[in-house]
Amino acid sequence: MTDKYFIHTFGCQMNVHDSEKIAGILSESGLGETDSLNEADVIVLNTCSIREKAEQKFYSELGRLGAAKKNNPGLKIAVAGCIAQQKGSVLFKRFPYVDFVFGPDNIDNLHAWINKRPQSTDHRAQTTALAHNPEYHNKALPVKREGKVRAWVSIMYGCDNFCAYCVVPHTRGRERSRSSKDILDEISTLARQGFREVTLLGQNVNSYGKNLPEKIDFPGLLGMIHDIEGIERIRFVTSHPRDLSEKLIDAMSNLSRICKHLHLPVQAGSDKILSLMNRGYTYKQYKEKIDILRSAVPDIAVTTDIIVGFPGESEKDFQGTISALREIEFDGIFAFKYSIRPGTAAVGLPDHIDEKDKSARLSEALDLQAGITYAKNKALEGKTITVLTEGLSETDKEKLTGRTSSNKIVNFYGDESDIGRLVDIKISEAKQHSLFGTKEAILATNIHE
Ligand code: SAH
Ligand code: SF4
Ligand code: F3S
Repeated sequence: MTDKYFIHTFGCQMNVHDSEKIAGILSESGLGETDSLNEADVIVLNTCSIREKAEQKFYSELGRLGAAKKNNPGLKIAVAGCIAQQKGSVLFKRFPYVDFVFGPDNIDNLHAWINKRPQSTDHRAQTTALAHNPEYHNKALPVKREGKVRAWVSIMYGCDNFCAYCVVPHTRGRERSRSSKDILDEISTLARQGFREVTLLGQNVNSYGKNLPEKIDFPGLLGMIHDIEGIERIRFVTSHPRDLSEKLIDAMSNLSRICKHLHLPVQAGSDKILSLMNRGYTYKQYKEKIDILRSAVPDIAVTTDIIVGFPGESEKDFQGTISALREIEFDGIFAFKYSIRPGTAAVGLPDHIDEKDKSARLSEALDLQAGITYAKNKALEGKTITVLTEGLSETDKEKLTGRTSSNKIVNFYGDESDIGRLVDIKISEAKQHSLFGTKEAILATNIHE
């Protein structure tokens, strides 16, 4: 019988996509996938250390796997991702049943490990793969993709920004862009396989190309991707406000397949806090960019991330964030309580904020935003919007689900043959996190018919 693998992914889109690469390597090595932990011969936990809570989730999961290993001593457990990179072999001390620890720059090392994985239960066979790999971005790894309509494509790795709170530059290393040829080849293959949408991934996509020998920037890359036949929609995450150029805004306004959505993390509305965070812009500069964007690309949806309770954040500073939410009226936000991350600059800042105050600020921000998001969704009632159908709805298999160009989720009754197609939906009901509507038409722009 072939061995089976189970992957548990924590964290961001980059990790979700890394898990697709991990799955690619494991299936290429002859393993089959299982969604049951009990059936697995190899378990990979792909971890995230962005906040303490994310770390705790992983530790409690790994703790539970101790019992699984007792029942099945042949079980192999690998830890990947950002915690793996930070903790390395220290994990073996606390969890002696872990077999392999590898970082985000070493996913390709999984190949060698899986093929010669020790069949014994000798824990001295424990290994790590954590070396910084400056050539990782040039490697072509097999990818086993989750869906058939939307695909993730890495365009750069790492981050050079060193925001004071953030662990990512410490776990993912320096910023490296992939060559445009590798990216275009990958997307052309996806188009041939029938994928209709790509999301370009990087911690700071706006600075794409900075260290490449070829002369190319992010808007230039978008132009080239836009010419690939079969790709109807292009998305990207994440953009850094400092590097959001007018050239990118022009590209978003001129290239019809770029989705009308920008995720642009503001983090805070107080200039004092933005400076302590080392973000490199003021709130006024941020707001000006949003104004230019909104006049160049009408109907664009803008979403953001905010952190509440950063060290030194007074009530007045926090109210700066609240008035930013009121003034900009984002389509949606991700809001987080500041979480202290070992090794980051913010650890040493004075005036850390009480947990109680952080919680109160988080609720205030989320309550305010819930009303704004709902009102924005409500304003879409009665409108007809184009949706790319992704699949059956998770909660109700009678319905289909897809997204608008502005990244809002739309559920509707339709046909399974709508999957992968652009359809026009008349919105009849707005909810807090999604829209519901009725199918009006399948669009003529569809290809691959
Ligand atoms: N590269 C992206 C985001 C990466 S992490 C960017 O620069 O925008 C995603 C979000 O997690 C960040 O935008 C930030 O809001 C939040 N975050 C990161 N570190 C955090 C910490 N220590 N505590 C709380 N939130 C944090
Ligand atoms: Fe972290 Fe800042 Fe880099 Fe984003 S830009 S990954 S928040 S250091
Ligand atoms: Fe988490 Fe690493 Fe992503 S810390 S958010 S998995 S880059």
